[in-house]
Amino acid sequence: MCNARCEFCCVLPTLNRPEKSMTDEQIFEAIGRARAQGATEIGYTGGEPTVHRRFVEIVAHARELGFKHQAMSTNGIKLKSRDFCHALLEAGMTAIDFSVHGHTDEMHDALVGRKGALSAIREAVGHLRELRGSAPIHLSATTVLTSSNHQHLRKIMEMLEEIGLESKRIKHAFEGILHVDSVREQVAPYEDVIPSLIDALDYLATQPHGFQVTHIPLCLLGDHAVFSSDFERRVATIVFGDHELEGDPAQHVRSDIEACGRCALAACCTRFDDAYRRWYQPPNVTPFADDEVEALFERGRSRFPQSEYIIARVYQRYRENKHRSRDDLRMSTRASDPEDEPR
Ligand SMILES: C[S@@+](CC[C@H](N)C(=O)[O-])C[C@H]1O[C@@H](n2cnc3c(N)ncnc32)[C@H](O)[C@@H]1O
Repeated sequence: MCNARCEFCCVLPTLNRPEKSMTDEQIFEAIGRARAQGATEIGYTGGEPTVHRRFVEIVAHARELGFKHQAMSTNGIKLKSRDFCHALLEAGMTAIDFSVHGHTDEMHDALVGRKGALSAIREAVGHLRELRGSAPIHLSATTVLTSSNHQHLRKIMEMLEEIGLESKRIKHAFEGILHVDSVREQVAPYEDVIPSLIDALDYLATQPHGFQVTHIPLCLLGDHAVFSSDFERRVATIVFGDHELEGDPAQHVRSDIEACGRCALAACCTRFDDAYRRWYQPPNVTPFADDEVEALFERGRSRFPQSEYIIARVYQRYRENKHRSRDDLRMSTRASDPEDEPR
């Protein structure tokens, strides 16, 4: 269920269809099972997690079971209420990632299809920063890079800084696992968005806070590839009502173009969205050669000295994952009813 309607949403066709929602039993059962298997981190997404009427109870339950880190993606609309923010922190939420896609109320509200949405985020961040003293909470923002907002990306980043959303993530819009054709108008060709992206990253590299970019092929980022979170290879179980996906979510429904086969960073890259290759000609790219990668990080460190700590972390991920096969973390799906399996 969702209280917004983002134009580019990758799960749009499943929203506000109660028959697609997980039942409360499925939610509690999935959390219990994950904990029993040893999971200590949980992330809530959707839809919009905060519109679930038992959300605070679910978070409190997960904490009781032993989940140490609980994060959520949110449009922030419900967090306008200070009481709700307080209840979430008390229940055990440890990280909140706000989706922010425009630097003005007009632009953000239009992109998410809900008047007052950006103003709610501003209020929410104010409440959470005030409440932070009593319960530590990590606040961050994700901006989906689309054909309507990319020209304003730097301004969006500046605005996030102003309102106190310190960690920032920029993510190229993709079609998603449901094959949502309506996203197409919002997915801009890489060559259109890269200049604005580089400009925004140059700004972020002078700021004192963490930032990352994801779902852009590393070869298109040039020296700015040192800011990509794609070097991280995660294993997650994504639970839907009737099926689960297991593996690295960032590698799902992504595939190579011919040049990827010759790239030294192939194991650390989210490469191309399947739909991107259907919709657009892949750009001409020069794959990274083995001996270029150390030099890439070397240049990154001297070019972006204020972001040395970010680059050091990305470099460490590169060292850990460079020899990994892309297949070892490919997502596999388990469905109770094969009809429900995503294509
Ligand atoms: C589908 S949303 C659901 C959670 C919540 N309602 C929100 O707005 O953040 C989960 C995450 O996916 C991002 N997202 C939505 N559509 C996307 C797309 N087409 N491509 C990439 N990311 C997308 C959102 O910004 C958010 O970070």
